[in-house]
Amino acid sequence: MQKIRLGLIGCGGRAGSHMNSFLQMDDVEVLAVADPIEDRRNAAAKKFGCSRIYKNHTELYEKESADTLDAVIIAVEPTAHTDIEEKAIEKGLHFIIEKPMTLDLDQAERIAAGVKEKNLITSVGFQDRYLDLMEIIKDELPKHKKGGLVYGAWIGGIPGVWWWQKKSTCGGQLVEQNIHLLDGLRWLYGEALSVYATASTGMIRPGVDASPEYDTDDHSTAVIRFKDNVTATLVSGCYSKNVRPRCGLYIALDDMVLDYRLRNNLIITTAEGSKDIPRGVDQTFLLDRAFIDALKTGDRSLIRSDYADALKSLKLGFAANRSMETGQVIYFNESN
Ligand SMILES: NC(=O)c1ccc[n+]([C@@H]2O[C@H](COP(=O)([O-])OP(=O)(O)OC[C@H]3O[C@@H](n4cnc5c(N)ncnc54)[C@H](O)[C@@H]3O)[C@@H](O)[C@H]2O)c1
Repeated sequence: MQKIRLGLIGCGGRAGSHMNSFLQMDDVEVLAVADPIEDRRNAAAKKFGCSRIYKNHTELYEKESADTLDAVIIAVEPTAHTDIEEKAIEKGLHFIIEKPMTLDLDQAERIAAGVKEKNLITSVGFQDRYLDLMEIIKDELPKHKKGGLVYGAWIGGIPGVWWWQKKSTCGGQLVEQNIHLLDGLRWLYGEALSVYATASTGMIRPGVDASPEYDTDDHSTAVIRFKDNVTATLVSGCYSKNVRPRCGLYIALDDMVLDYRLRNNLIITTAEGSKDIPRGVDQTFLLDRAFIDALKTGDRSLIRSDYADALKSLKLGFAANRSMETGQVIYFNESN
């Protein structure tokens, strides 16, 4: 059996989840790894018994090509993308890329165009789309009266990694982390009609609670309108200490409440009572498996978020950031 040949670009936190997936697949081999941090690249190489170890993506691309690899897995910080995807496109390598795929919209547009031109298979790390709980919600919604309110929240602690402490290098909590729920809303309701958002600072004191450079928002709130009279309020925060505020989506239909507790369980309530459904899948494994199967079969419908689709979630996040800066409602039309 011909195995799918992978290279890893970035061997940090998130890459670890993808590595766990690939370690469980006997039709996949990780043949090359790259990371500027020596311990990380060596640890990743050791997991897979791989001897092609590079200091960064540039070194990897100097030696590797579509003759030696089928795809690369790109899991680097949001501002480290430089020419990582452009080079993959040039070499004809398919790729999985982590969200947010970049903070530079022009670059994202160029990459989307390049992917299309080269007909590459791509997948973006919107793992929630592969969750059984989200599938239940997606199946349930059309059975009810259209319209209603959705409250969404992702409130976490003060970010640890350096690049998440500055808005210029992470994009803010909405773009960096809560883009998962933003994308989830798009997956459930289609394209947004408008977004209005506000942001606040002042809770986290730079140099006291976090690094002196800390300047990302403590919290933000986005009000997003969708068609069929659906309005979602999405709050994002990164200030909690020693407490874990509830995160997820709370969908109030006319005759049902869908209470999705982030990546954990879904409580469905109707006049008859409540049902609590636990998560039953490893959604990152399913995301990775779908990509490998798409490579093997050519069936792109297995991939629930490719680069072109994920770009729409990124644009919605950027639009919310623009609204935070200007105080204006951003309305969407085809050109957004
Ligand atoms: N889909 C998800 O659920 C999920 C979860 C966590 C993080 N992420 C995303 O994954 C990305 C990475 O996050 P992380 O937590 O792994 O960060 P991290 O800082 O732990 O790891 C990033 C790694 O990329 C390496 N790197 C940087 N430039 C490189 C280059 N040119 N070539 C090779 N390696 C390079 C860094 O040295 C670092 O080891 C972020 O965009 C983050 O938002 C996604």
